[in-house]
Parts: sequence; structure tokens; C-alpha cells
Amino acid sequence: MRVLVIGSGAREHALLLALAKDPQVSALSIAPGNAGTARVAEQHTVDITSSDEVVALARHVQADLVVIGPEVPLVLGVADAVRAAGIVCFGPSKDAARIEGSKAFAKEVMAAAGVRTASSEIVDTPAHLDAALDRFGPPAGDPAWVVKDDHLAAGKGVVVTPNRDAARAHAASLLESGHPVLLESFLDGPEVSLFCVVDGQTVVPLLAAQDFKRVGDGDTGPNTGGMGAYAPLPWLPDDIYRQVVTDMVKPVAAELVRRGCPFSGLLYVGLAITAKGPAVVEFNCRFGDPETQAVLALLDSPLGQLLYAAGTGQLADFGELRWRNGAAVTVVLAAENYPGRPRVGDVVTGADAEGVLHAGTARRDDGAVVSSGGRVLSVVGTGADLAEARAQAYGILSSIKLPGSHFRSDIGLRAAQGEISVS
Ligand code: GLY
Repeated sequence: MRVLVIGSGAREHALLLALAKDPQVSALSIAPGNAGTARVAEQHTVDITSSDEVVALARHVQADLVVIGPEVPLVLGVADAVRAAGIVCFGPSKDAARIEGSKAFAKEVMAAAGVRTASSEIVDTPAHLDAALDRFGPPAGDPAWVVKDDHLAAGKGVVVTPNRDAARAHAASLLESGHPVLLESFLDGPEVSLFCVVDGQTVVPLLAAQDFKRVGDGDTGPNTGGMGAYAPLPWLPDDIYRQVVTDMVKPVAAELVRRGCPFSGLLYVGLAITAKGPAVVEFNCRFGDPETQAVLALLDSPLGQLLYAAGTGQLADFGELRWRNGAAVTVVLAAENYPGRPRVGDVVTGADAEGVLHAGTARRDDGAVVSSGGRVLSVVGTGADLAEARAQAYGILSSIKLPGSHFRSDIGLRAAQGEISVS
């Protein structure tokens, strides 16, 4: 099987490494990729938001399967174009990708499917902002305001704050730049990312993971695309995991079928495990980054065959997934000033070591790896438990040098110390 992966992050690097282990995968290509993915796959330059360019490349590399990593091409309908060209694609149609691309659509689907989620309101004009802010956050009953960009914002458009002025300023700046604002009630409790491979009504859940969205230790500072993750979650009871699949993901998949836009690809449910049980924070239409780096490090089943089965409507026959015992932790090394405008062009050393996945990197003519984005690397450690996996990840990280870079030192720490519990 010849596989073309679309994307350039550490998520796509992790996908390539897992695909390379599948005995049925004979050739790997990627577009546009990065300095790390060039070592595992044939690298191509295309505009990944252009259906024509992606289809032309898929034909050129004679792909049997195209795997689309990021949400933007999916929301734009690139998967539809690949399928229309007669090539198997792992990734939802433009219509189904609205589960991530349109928060209003996602809320509508969840309501129809009876799925518990935060109450919300969309504000599209500054004149309505103050009254709407009064209906959310303190003193309305929530400990904080949750203000989201209603456009795709790579995780960075969210502000959660108990400070009304800060909430208002973020909402006003989004409205000024022409983006509607989504105000939501605050969902308290540990967060879970659960990825499910979905083909119509068939849902195959992967290991649950937890993402760390704030830039600083102890969940401080602004939101990012994700600073680290670990899997599985020793504190998440099996019955809650099963409840999420049965009462949340399956009804949403069925509702999308009912609406004539069946989902085929990776349905990612982000949850908060509140005192009243799990509630959905968001659905995404693709693998999460950086959780994928931890989850796929533990997958034993052949990933190429799994994604091909979903893309060809044969997921129901795939059988149970197999996982390695133990735990995986991934820690993101970010460039100076990320999540603001990152400093780029610095030389990174130690980035070719095992367990190092690349994201914002490029290879200079002299062979040096240089930073080219905010999240530069994702370092993955595995071990018999979270403590071992953390030790391995941070050990690898200590041998990497990038001027001005930063990372969180507490990825998976509270879980490793048994400090997370749900009732
Ligand atoms: N880890 C958050 C995301 O992928 O959206």
C-alpha cells in the first residue's frame, strides 16, 4: 500500500512512523512535511488547501491511501476531491468536517444526539457583547468566562478567565477582526481527548489521552495548540470511557449519518469529566496534536490497514485494536515567544535522536535543522508507567538545544503522582 500523508506537524511525523511499521505499507510520501518527516517519507511541496494540487500529487505518487492530518484542508473539502478522483482517503467530507469547522453546527448535532455539552451563545456584533457576557461567567454562576473564536484557530483562539475585562477584550478583538465569538459555560473537571476511528455508524475508540493546553507549568499562561500529552489515563474509569463512546460518540456519528453527511475519518471528542459526568468541550474532525504522538506510540495494530479499512467502509470487519502495555508521554519544545509570534531560524541540535518528532523545523542547505514554527519538536517517551515514560521523554529533551526555547516540565506529572480523580 502506497500512502500519502498531508500535513507538516509532529502529528504527521507520528502518523508516518506508525504507518512505516505496518507490513502492508510499501511507500510513504508527505506534503509538505518538515526536516524530520523527510527522513521517513518522500517529501513534496504542494498547497495542501488546494484540492487540485493534492489530487495531482496523490496521482503522481500513485497513492492507494491519502491521510489528511490538519483540519483546514478537510473543512475546505480536499478529502471529497481525493475520493472523487477514485483514491481512498482517510478524512471526512467537507460537510462532515463542519463538526469542527462550525461550532454552531456541532452544537446542533450534539443537541439532536442528546449529548451533554456546555451551553453557549454566538455573538456576532459588539452591541450584543456586554449583555451576553452578563449571561455567562461570574456572577452568572460559572467560575470563569470561556470565550472562543468561532473560526478555526489551532487551539489558540480560546480564553478562559475569571476576569471580565480580559474576557471582554478578547471577545472585542475577535469581533474587530470579523470573527464571531462563542461564549460558553465553564466545564469544570479533568479534560480528556478521545480519538475514534469512524466509518459511518462504526466507531473504534483509541486510548484516551490528556492534553496540556496552557503554555506554562501548573496550567498557567495563554492557551496554545498543546504543550504535551500522555496516554492512557490511569485515573479514567472504564465505565466513563465506555459511556463516552456509547452515549456520545456513537449518537453523534449516527446523527451525522441521519443528516446525510456520514463521518469517515478520525472523530476527536474533547471532554471535561465534571462532577455530573462527562460533558463535551468540542468535537474535532482529525487526529489531535500533540495527543496523537503519545497514543500512536502505544498502538500495536497496523495503522495503514486500520485507516484503509475506515476509508473503504470496512471498519466493522477490522476487529479489536491491540495496544502495547505501559504509558507514553509527549512533551512539546516550543520556540521563544510561542504562542505569540515565534522566533524562527535558530539552529536546533539533538533533534535527530530517536523519540524526537518534528513539527516547525526545516533543513538548511548546510544540513543543520532550524526552527520554522512555534511548536518545534514533540519528544516522546514510553515506559512501563507514566513515571518511566516521563523520565524517558525529559531525558531525551535534555539533550536538545534550541536558543530561547521553552517546554512544560509537568506533563503527566499529576497523573503519575495519583493526584487526579473523578467521582
Ligand atoms: N490538542 C488539541 C488539538 O489538537 O486540537
